[in-house]
Amino acid sequence: MDNILITGGAGFIASHITDLLIDNGYNVTILDNLSSGKKSNINLKANFIKIDLNDNLESVFKNSSFDCIIHHAAQIDVQTSIEDPFYDAKNNILGTINLLQMAKKFAVNKFIYASSAAVYGEPEYLPIDEKHPINPDSPYGISKHTPEHYIINFSRLYNFQYSILRYANVYGPRQGAAGEGGVIAIFADRMSHNKKPIIYGDGEQTRDFIYVKDIARANLSALKSDCSGIFNISTEKEISINKTAALFNKILNKDLEPEYRLERPGDIKQSYLSSKKASKKLNWYPETSFSEGIEETISFYL
Ligand SMILES: NC(=O)c1ccc[n+]([C@@H]2O[C@H](COP(=O)([O-])OP(=O)(O)OC[C@H]3O[C@@H](n4cnc5c(N)ncnc54)[C@H](O)[C@@H]3O)[C@@H](O)[C@H]2O)c1
Repeated sequence: MDNILITGGAGFIASHITDLLIDNGYNVTILDNLSSGKKSNINLKANFIKIDLNDNLESVFKNSSFDCIIHHAAQIDVQTSIEDPFYDAKNNILGTINLLQMAKKFAVNKFIYASSAAVYGEPEYLPIDEKHPINPDSPYGISKHTPEHYIINFSRLYNFQYSILRYANVYGPRQGAAGEGGVIAIFADRMSHNKKPIIYGDGEQTRDFIYVKDIARANLSALKSDCSGIFNISTEKEISINKTAALFNKILNKDLEPEYRLERPGDIKQSYLSSKKASKKLNWYPETSFSEGIEETISFYL
């Protein structure tokens, strides 16, 4: 398995996956429409094709024989999904179906899909494991979950392997402010430039923040594994937004008082995920401590 198509490879997460795969000797082709991705994120050793997921993708597949598709291209903004669910579904659901049709037509052996903790909605118990009820509370959560069904169905019908990776809140260098881990990117940008962090609500809400390079390693583990399935990818630790702001102050050696604003409607109070299944079946473990990850993130913004 050495010829890999990575969608969304000009974006935050998939650009790190691209870097890791290229360092490990894989041949990578990136498909991206650059709607939120940046040319500067694209590894110079990758082939780059600027195209939309919903375009006719025959030309991408015709001259390459891909062993695996790692699918990360998506509309990732929850607010956009609420304001324009049609646009969200077109990118995330129809775009994935278009890609799956190509996987079928060109007999690609394996499909790795970036799903999200957003599929679970408000937690009914903690830590959230893969058996937790699916109850997305945004069109984005619905549009990330729906392709999971298509992937499993296509794999049964056309006999390919799949890994559905449900990420917790991802953070790290190159992240834009809109994503689910966006609070870290915003704190890093503001606080390294001496601006106070803005916190919505009392700051005691918790999240499971996972470093992007651990996510990249999870994709490499999934690529090497022949075990199909759905896997949470998380740290299994929760950290509050207040503690996150305090850690930034400590690392930056500053004393920026948070500015508190009204709680945002629908904001989940407490969240963290179990990744035991990924550890057992994919032999993947998170390796980066929160303070190491934050230090590397801050150095990107300085
Ligand atoms: N950031 C997180 O915390 C997080 C958490 C869970 C899941 N995810 C998932 O991980 C994936 C990557 O997220 P990210 O944070 O790196 O986002 P990102 O916006 O940085 O990357 C997405 C990339 O996809 C491209 N793209 C979007 N729509 C496209 C289309 N129709 N055709 C072709 N290219 C298109 C964009 O230009 C961009 O380069 C997404 O599928 C997202 O749902 C992210």
